[in-house]
Amino acid sequence: MKLASASWSLQGRTVVLTGATAGIGLAAARQLAQLGARLVLIGRDRMRGEQARAALRLAAPAAPEADLHLCDLANLADVHRLGAELGQHYPRVDVLINNAGVLPNRLTTTPEGHELCWATNHLAPFILTNHLLPQLEAAGPGARVITVASDAHWLGEIESTAAARIDSNRSSALTAYCDSKLANILFTKALSERLELTGITAHCLHPGVVSSNLWSHSPLLVRALMRLAAPFAKLPEQAAATIVHLATTTDAAAADGHYFKNCRRARTSGRADNRAEMHRLWRISAEETGIGQ
Ligand SMILES: NC(=O)c1ccc[n+]([C@@H]2O[C@H](COP(=O)([O-])OP(=O)(O)OC[C@H]3O[C@@H](n4cnc5c(N)ncnc54)[C@H](OP(=O)(O)O)[C@@H]3O)[C@@H](O)[C@H]2O)c1
Repeated sequence: MKLASASWSLQGRTVVLTGATAGIGLAAARQLAQLGARLVLIGRDRMRGEQARAALRLAAPAAPEADLHLCDLANLADVHRLGAELGQHYPRVDVLINNAGVLPNRLTTTPEGHELCWATNHLAPFILTNHLLPQLEAAGPGARVITVASDAHWLGEIESTAAARIDSNRSSALTAYCDSKLANILFTKALSERLELTGITAHCLHPGVVSSNLWSHSPLLVRALMRLAAPFAKLPEQAAATIVHLATTTDAAAADGHYFKNCRRARTSGRADNRAEMHRLWRISAEETGIGQ
């Protein structure tokens, strides 16, 4: 049984947020800053990171100044370095938001030999979260990990090897993205189970469809579909609402291990609900990253 926290004001709390330089992440950062959070922004580009900090100063002049840490989340050695760096800087982390994501226009292999979506969207959050568990635990009951998944997970499956993920006869950029989003949900459920009794909870969500930079490098067909969907898309501010809801809910225990849409619990695919898949995903991820055993 996890403890339900009494109240969840973000005033002065340390919130680590990846993908804070654009789209949904930047919109979430604005709202979290306005709620008084002490933001730790993770970005891969110093100029875009400083622009995000400047935008936050304007949006929330009374909020504590946001910190910026640089990391290329596609580079897993850099993510391990970031995890250690954050561990040294921040004795406690109240909220970790794994938001950064990528959808490239073709199947891409990173210099470390991982498929790009798998590395950036899944293995990076897996590494960062595992590094920050002591700091989340130090924050006490109510601390939480929020991972931005997607309804694209309905088309996902978990390949067992890096070789299968980069095999263009089996995978494409789009299937790789869907697979990584399924991994986000299975990771959240496995994490929730592993953290039982710690007071730390784990949550994931679909933010809704947003005309963000995510689509600008995506496969041609996806870009064409997005152009058609654009008039019905959410604004980044609206999409950020479910992240902010999960970051501030007073009843994180009831939301623990669950998938959310429009600030409500939502159904996932059968694969995302499969406990054997959850354990298989954790084992594969731990083997590939050397953390989380
Ligand atoms: N947009 C949608 O319709 C939609 C729907 C469902 C789920 N999602 C999910 O929502 C999340 C945010 O997406 P978004 O739409 O806001 O996309 P976005 O506008 O493209 O923003 C993505 C963020 O991730 C960062 N990022 C990407 N690769 C990175 C790397 N290698 N290292 C460090 N940072 C990296 C980007 O940094 P740069 O500024 O440096 O590029 C940017 O800050 C993603 O997880 C996505 O899968 C989005």
